Amino acid sequence: MSLKRFIEEFEKRKREIAKGGGEEKIEKQHQAGKLTAWERVEILVDPGTFVEIDEFVRHRNTYFGLDKMTLPRDGVVTGIGEVNGRKVAIFSQDFTVMGGSLGEMHAKKIVKLLDLALKLGIPVIGINDSGGARIQEGVDALAGYGEIFFRNTMASGVVPQITVIAGPCAGGAVYSPALTDFVIMVNQTAKMFITGPNVIKAVTGEDISQEELGGALVHNQKSGNAHFLADSDEEAMKLVRKLLSYLPSNNAEEPPIQNPDFRAETPEDVLEIVPDNPNKGYDVREIITRVVDHGEFLEVQPYFARNLVIGFARIAGRPVGIVANQPSVLAGVLDIDSSDKAARFIRFLDAFNIPIFTFVDTPGYLPGVAQEHNGIIRHGAKLLYAYSEATVPKITVILRKAYGGAYIAMGSKHLGADFVFAWPSAEIAVMGPEGAANIVFKKEIESSENPEETRKRLIEEYKEMFANPYIAASRGYVDAVIDPRETRRYLIRALEITQTKVEYRPKKKHGNIPL
Ligand code: HXC
Repeated sequence: MSLKRFIEEFEKRKREIAKGGGEEKIEKQHQAGKLTAWERVEILVDPGTFVEIDEFVRHRNTYFGLDKMTLPRDGVVTGIGEVNGRKVAIFSQDFTVMGGSLGEMHAKKIVKLLDLALKLGIPVIGINDSGGARIQEGVDALAGYGEIFFRNTMASGVVPQITVIAGPCAGGAVYSPALTDFVIMVNQTAKMFITGPNVIKAVTGEDISQEELGGALVHNQKSGNAHFLADSDEEAMKLVRKLLSYLPSNNAEEPPIQNPDFRAETPEDVLEIVPDNPNKGYDVREIITRVVDHGEFLEVQPYFARNLVIGFARIAGRPVGIVANQPSVLAGVLDIDSSDKAARFIRFLDAFNIPIFTFVDTPGYLPGVAQEHNGIIRHGAKLLYAYSEATVPKITVILRKAYGGAYIAMGSKHLGADFVFAWPSAEIAVMGPEGAANIVFKKEIESSENPEETRKRLIEEYKEMFANPYIAASRGYVDAVIDPRETRRYLIRALEITQTKVEYRPKKKHGNIPL
């Protein structure tokens, strides 16, 4: 009987907290096309699984009138829920409470959650909707960010970290998302920048809107800071659930086997995709979807560096990561952005025990002054480093062109691929036949009576001699030349065979990838 009195008080407090920033602010949030922090969590988790932590946490700063303010949950919901029956740690910033700004206690809640996630070995999902450092809390807010960045770094490669940007994320606040593995941005509502339009105007005189500066499209297409674009908060949460289905909970687990496709055949029409004309492009995703389970492919960064495709799929139920040149965009060349895109993805796959499947059709690294001056040497090296360092199963299929340095970089035998298969259409050479013939037979062409005819003949000779998979196969650089219709069967077998793979690397503190 006596406990009832306490329960009334307890429930009253909970009701107050549940109001967040109040009716008016919630209404404003909805009108802006955004869900509240709590609504987002509810969509993300399996119903009834969320256990909140630190609901009663309060700020304790007193400057600038903060002592007179109650800030429910200090502006962030934290806790553990389940996604498809697997535990995840979640924080969700509440913009209705002082703009979701991050003060000392708000940060402490996130830090506590990250520490817990690391101990439990479970992924972290961070939903960002915040005006950044709570200005009234000064250095305590900055300290909070620093503590979070440190935990993000400690957790990197141990548990997957996924960020959703569902509102503003400005100033130093952007660096927590940047340290995580995947960033999903909600179109129109998400904004990310270090300094906003007003500061930029004052410093450089440039005039730009928030959307043009740091909207979801900009970060998905141009900067490469984001990996996925969602049309709404609901879609962003669905994407998180889908992405998690490919990932283990931590680096000591194997990724979850799901819904295996027992079909071994590759559809006959796979033969129709690669054009006869070597200078014509095609969409490599047409090949990927024909060889993976149920034709399902979750493309990562589909709008950035489109000359290279990365993403998740399953082979016989096992999650795999795909890295493929995209001949329909810039002929599938490797450049600065595509090297960065692939290298970071490969390192994620390797950290989380996900095999790497590479599909090669590239004329090489992109020539050009801009590429050279912006560091294609340093950026291209990342790809070599990432493939060499990876110890998960590495299985490569050469579809058509594999020229020059790009032949080496794209998961070649020389960088430790376990299996390299080549279609009969593969051309493995130092460079394209035209370029090669012009150099090798320069004198012969120039001194001939009909240089054009001689050039054509010598290009054809070179092609016959070198632009095929058989020389590489004769050296053992290609393990098998395969009928394209047998591709899926080979991939399934290669994955089965490599399940017991163990590969050691020299003991070291850490390597020094060219950044
Ligand atoms: C305290 C803040 C706040 C902040 C917003 N609010 N940001 N309070 N500290 N950083 C408050 C507002 O005063 C307002 O309170 C409420 O949150 C909602 O904000 P609005 O401005 O009404 O919302 P909106 O028009 O949607 O604009 C959102 C916004 C804007 C673009 C984010 O609020 C803004 O520019 N805020 C400041 C951003 C910023 O400069 N942050 C510091 C970055 S420096 P009321 O009571 O009126 O409802 C930083 C350093 C970190 O983060 C370094 C780490 C290394």
